[in-house]
Order: sequence, then structure tokens, then C-alpha cells
Amino acid sequence: MITKINHIAIVIPELEEGMGFWVNALGLNVKKTESVPEQQVDIAFLPVGESNIELLAPTDTESGVAKYLDKRGPGLHHICLEVEDIDTVLDRLKTASVPLIDEEPRDGGHGKKLAFIHPKGTGGVLVELYQLP
Ligand code: CO
Repeated sequence: MITKINHIAIVIPELEEGMGFWVNALGLNVKKTESVPEQQVDIAFLPVGESNIELLAPTDTESGVAKYLDKRGPGLHHICLEVEDIDTVLDRLKTASVPLIDEEPRDGGHGKKLAFIHPKGTGGVLVELYQLP
């Protein structure tokens, strides 16, 4: 049902500078970078095997990611699990009374569906679910 870790997202203040450790010191490659204006973030994807390290940097001071960085400092933001059937997983979590940020899957574009599970229910880690097309 859960097939793999799609990505681990880390929030940093500034993308270019924050990539230094991962790229220069550790030697990972940047697959792509993109701006997501709807969420006011710049993102870099660094593949590690079948998974990715996803670096997130806020582009404003008011977005969710910006507030998170302000409050908690840089570090782990969320982990993303890839699932075969997101509706079934969400139903299962509802049955188990796990608090969800998204009761129903959101449209992630390109046929992708996603939903976030509240850290209150997971031991303190924001968990994202992906169902890829
Ligand atoms: Co994510």
C-alpha cells in the first residue's frame, strides 16, 4: 500500500546557499529547481536512489513555509510517502481517528494526488502522501 519514500523535505532560508552542503560537500546532483508561486517557495530536487531530498526556501515572509522557518528554524519539514491508492489510505487513517490536514486528496497537477497528515497524529512529523498517475 505504501510503496516508497518519495521525498524528504527540508526547509532552508535561501536555496543557493542552503544547497552548498548537499551539492558541494555531499556530492548530490540537482535534478531540477522550480518556483511554486502559489506556495511562495523555491524548491530544489536532489535525487538519492529512488527518493529525493527536496530543499524548500520561502520567497516571502507570510507563507506557511516562511512561518515554519521563522518559528522552528531550518530543518526537516516533512516526509512524503508514495501510496498506490490515496483514498484507501485516507479512509484507513480516518477510521483510526488520525488528524488530517487534508480530509480529501488535493490535486497536485499532472494527475498527481496529495494529502497531508497532521503532525499531532504522527509523532510530530508532517507527513505527505502522494499518489502518482
Ligand atoms: Co512534499
